[in-house]
Amino acid sequence: MSHLLLITGAAGFIGSNLVYWLRRHQPEARIVILDALTYAGNLPTLAALPYTEKKEEFSAEKPILFVRGDICDQELLQRLFTRHAFTGVLNLAAESHVDRSIAGAQPFLRTNIIGTQTLLDVARLHGNPRFVQISTDEVYGSLGPEGKFSETTPLAPNSPYSASKASADHFARAAFHTFGQPVSITRCSNNYGPYQFPEKMMPLMMTNAMNDIPLPVYGDGLNVRDWIFVDDHCAGIWATFERGQPGEVYNFGGDSERTNLDVVRQILQLAGKTESLIRYVPDRLGHDRRYAVDFTKSTRELGWLPSVKFEEGLTHTFSWYRANASWWQPLRH
Ligand SMILES: NC(=O)c1ccc[n+]([C@@H]2O[C@H](COP(=O)([O-])OP(=O)(O)OC[C@H]3O[C@@H](n4cnc5c(N)ncnc54)[C@H](O)[C@@H]3O)[C@@H](O)[C@H]2O)c1
Repeated sequence: MSHLLLITGAAGFIGSNLVYWLRRHQPEARIVILDALTYAGNLPTLAALPYTEKKEEFSAEKPILFVRGDICDQELLQRLFTRHAFTGVLNLAAESHVDRSIAGAQPFLRTNIIGTQTLLDVARLHGNPRFVQISTDEVYGSLGPEGKFSETTPLAPNSPYSASKASADHFARAAFHTFGQPVSITRCSNNYGPYQFPEKMMPLMMTNAMNDIPLPVYGDGLNVRDWIFVDDHCAGIWATFERGQPGEVYNFGGDSERTNLDVVRQILQLAGKTESLIRYVPDRLGHDRRYAVDFTKSTRELGWLPSVKFEEGLTHTFSWYRANASWWQPLRH
């Protein structure tokens, strides 16, 4: 079956990588990208894709249609769903930066909660296609030195960002239980890879190191994250879409726990720079100490496993940022 997919937020980091991934793995799929182009969305990210912004040109030659718009805009969504008989909706539109959510939570409530519910409602009333809500492991809160998050771990979000994502997860779950809407939820650990906005840790550290700018490390640098190469997350999203059960949650992780300090040291090594560039800065408010993801359910039920080793993915990502300064330089303040 060839798909007609609505992918929201695909001018951002994971959404754009997902579209590139689908071009390689599902070349028959036609895709409508809906993105508001906030500070985090960026059209040059899509430059290597066969996309058009004119609906008349949306065709086998131009199988990707870009629409600039907001997932909170119900009328726009209704027009899109009336014009296109979507076979699937993958919702990646979000406010995604924890530090920004600490500075001000309102945009997170609007896009992550109201936007998700608006999309769920319009999808349900227009053909009710398969729907995957892209969430995060951060909804589970923080771990001590032992243990991992499983899909049954109670939600305990600690930042305004993760609270808004957890709320969206509840609405997605309610859509399934109330209306039988075919919604599944993915919860993935920290992604890294090409096209990540340079305010996020990996690209910030890489581009700082390239420019001999100090690398800011929160607190003692010993917060632990599980890192996953973005293509592995994309494969997990697609496996969920194709083989996941409605009403179910699927965790994805890279099996690559590292302290922030370890990551920064490896980046400095790749850049050929010394550790004198490390600057410890006051810790993020409410900084979660450790995340780790148990993804055995996704392996068992979806046949999914991460395939990219951390060192391999990190080297690839560093080389990408080194070769693509024209992409990230305009995005750095
Ligand atoms: N980055 C990670 O490590 C990570 C890990 C797990 C889950 N996630 C989740 O994956 C999703 C994508 O994350 P990302 O890192 O690619 O984020 P991102 O910030 O890079 O991209 C978000 C995109 O959404 C768009 N957008 C924002 N508000 C919108 C709105 N109201 N309507 C339409 N488009 C809007 C932005 O323009 C941008 O293109 C998010 O839901 C995030 O919670 C991210």
